[in-house]
Amino acid sequence: MFRTRRLRNNPAIRNLVRETTLSVNDFIYPLFIEEKPGLKNEIKSMPGIYRYSLDRISEELDEVVELGIQSVILFAIPLEKDEIGSEAMNENGIIPQAIRFIKKNYPQLYVISDICFCEYTDHGHCGIIHNNDVDNDPTLLNLNKQVIAHAKAGVDMVAPSGMMDGTVASLRNELDENGYTQIPIMGYSVKYASAFYGPFRDAADSAPSFGDRRTYQMDPANRSEAIREATIDIEEGADIIMVKPALSYLDIIRDLKNNFDVPIAAYNVSGEYAMLKAAGKNGWIDEERVMMEKLMSIKRAGADIIITYHAKEAARVLNRG
Ligand code: PBG
Repeated sequence: MFRTRRLRNNPAIRNLVRETTLSVNDFIYPLFIEEKPGLKNEIKSMPGIYRYSLDRISEELDEVVELGIQSVILFAIPLEKDEIGSEAMNENGIIPQAIRFIKKNYPQLYVISDICFCEYTDHGHCGIIHNNDVDNDPTLLNLNKQVIAHAKAGVDMVAPSGMMDGTVASLRNELDENGYTQIPIMGYSVKYASAFYGPFRDAADSAPSFGDRRTYQMDPANRSEAIREATIDIEEGADIIMVKPALSYLDIIRDLKNNFDVPIAAYNVSGEYAMLKAAGKNGWIDEERVMMEKLMSIKRAGADIIITYHAKEAARVLNRG
């Protein structure tokens, strides 16, 4: 008889043959930064996740550092939104302020910024609108201004999420020409037009006011196209490529792992977080175990890096051993 159970006899042997391990080092924790002062507001559809103003963010950062989380990714809720998202390009805007604050007070934290316009435009689309659609090439010029504002503030890595063609090449060139050759780019290379972003859009007030994002984000039905997107981003200079969302796209994460030799990140998005929280709250599942299983599955699929709202909770579990 073939006896595969021999290697499951006790914890020691199971530990010896375990193929995948999760570590706090794998996590990037997203932060929503409010420009309006004096705020700490829980996001209704994301229990446990808050929008913080800069004057309150230390509560959160102290905990992050204490738990051993090393990286954060920043999202903005600016005071002013307009048609072109001017605030995104402001060198003293909320994200440059946040980068300076964190690098000064928490120099050990690795700070990543989201490079996109949807949080800054009054229509919620990811760039300049022309004929009811995002105009690709003029948007690239504005993304260049945004990236320089973040670079000047001292950001460690940038992550363009807008799915405009040519973004990575354009940002790489702009960064290099301005002397920022050491700032890596993590491309949201394979980003689907997903309904799982709903809670994030509530959190960032960034739901499109007309239409949807299907002219720039990928069709969830497509798999080969993910290889094309990743190939292009790597050729354009992406240091890390990302798949987003994570859980319904584990096949895509594995495809990239099997095809490319660069680190792969996966974004465990807001809707995925919200679903687990809702089921957990109702007592329908063992929330902690399902959380760890799901993070493990993302890693096992091939992700080296996981961007997740669960980072703090998962760190607590891992630190407990
Ligand atoms: C775009 C951006 C989005 C998310 C991260 N960056 C939203 C979108 O495309 O609407 C979603 C993240 C999440 O759902 O957790 N700047």
